Amino acid sequence: MKKTIIGLDVKDKKVAVRVDFNVPMKEGVITDDKRIKESLPTIMYLLDHGASLILISHLGRPNGVEKQYSLKPIAARLSELIGKKVIMAKNVVGEDTLKKAQKLKSGDILLLENVRFEKGEEENDPELAKKLASMADLYVLDAFGTAHRKHASTYGMSKLLPNAIGFLVEKEVNAIDSVLHATTHPFVAILGGSKVSDKIKLIGSLLDKVDVLLVGGAMAYTFLKAQGIDTGNSMVEEDMIKDATKLLKMAQEKNVQLILPMDHVIADQLDNPTRIYQTSDANILDGFSGYDIGKKTIKQYTKIIKKAKRVIWNGPMGVFEQPEFAKGTFAICKAMAKSKGYTVIGGGDSASAAVKSGYSKKINHISTGGGASLKMFEGKTLPAIEVIEEKK
Ligand code: 3PG
Repeated sequence: MKKTIIGLDVKDKKVAVRVDFNVPMKEGVITDDKRIKESLPTIMYLLDHGASLILISHLGRPNGVEKQYSLKPIAARLSELIGKKVIMAKNVVGEDTLKKAQKLKSGDILLLENVRFEKGEEENDPELAKKLASMADLYVLDAFGTAHRKHASTYGMSKLLPNAIGFLVEKEVNAIDSVLHATTHPFVAILGGSKVSDKIKLIGSLLDKVDVLLVGGAMAYTFLKAQGIDTGNSMVEEDMIKDATKLLKMAQEKNVQLILPMDHVIADQLDNPTRIYQTSDANILDGFSGYDIGKKTIKQYTKIIKKAKRVIWNGPMGVFEQPEFAKGTFAICKAMAKSKGYTVIGGGDSASAAVKSGYSKKINHISTGGGASLKMFEGKTLPAIEVIEEKK
């Protein structure tokens, strides 16, 4: 068990909190503030207990300092949410920022500029970690979404200060650990998204844990082709067909039901399609591509999910951003919402689909991490959490 902020003496201390404010933005406007909201319990607890805060986050993948990746809009949103001024630093570890940090008094909040504006962040540069740590007395890791990254502000600086995990990291780890390690069955995993290559290790390790693996999204077409099904123009990773065949065999050997779509919604093209059909079986016509799972598949997957005792899901079933190809993904959200089992969604696109579908409130846990939750589903530990001190 990792040390948590409960019981940490933070009164009149400067606490550096690594949060994940990597929120989706469109033209400088935040389009989903879930990650900011999810960091509030830790922020408010520390403020209520007399700390001053130095908040650290990245946003996007900037190449050096790029204005569109500034955290300024995030400072404004955070300030609105907590009804308190948030001091925005001009940079990450410049002189002005270090001075601002020095002057902090109990109750003050300083938000550093995008930590990826510093080249050393992603290189886990010890000098950058030292500078960041020099501003604070304590370090708290609450950036679950970035905990799989071994960066200066996640892994590097925590080793230089007394540290603990925040409430969000604690909640995420407990939820994902409990769905993975419970002994209730059936345990169902739903995997979608476009590439088998991205999920090959994950599938391999899930085959040791789950009873049923439901596959959707474009990655299903690689598996279908491996079984000799006609996939038309659908996206297939030709170089993954051998691996897909191996995984199908492995599933059989391990007595796991790896289920592929038995029908699809197909179209002549993705943008402005002129012909959209529902197929009668798993085969796809020449000149057409699959963009969603079909009606019979939805019915079958729904039945399995509803009966499950544990469900984890990552990756949409189709191109849900377009209403004509969204039915499959939204049906999965609905089935999870109605399932009597414990349901967990592993961040990213599936999390935004759950919100869009209107069923998100009925899911037991929706992770704020995409890559981080996938690593945990794979059974891996996250390096930035690993380095945090153990509870005594
Ligand atoms: C995420 O959105 O998954 C995290 O914020 C990590 O971002 P990254 O993939 O750019 O490291």
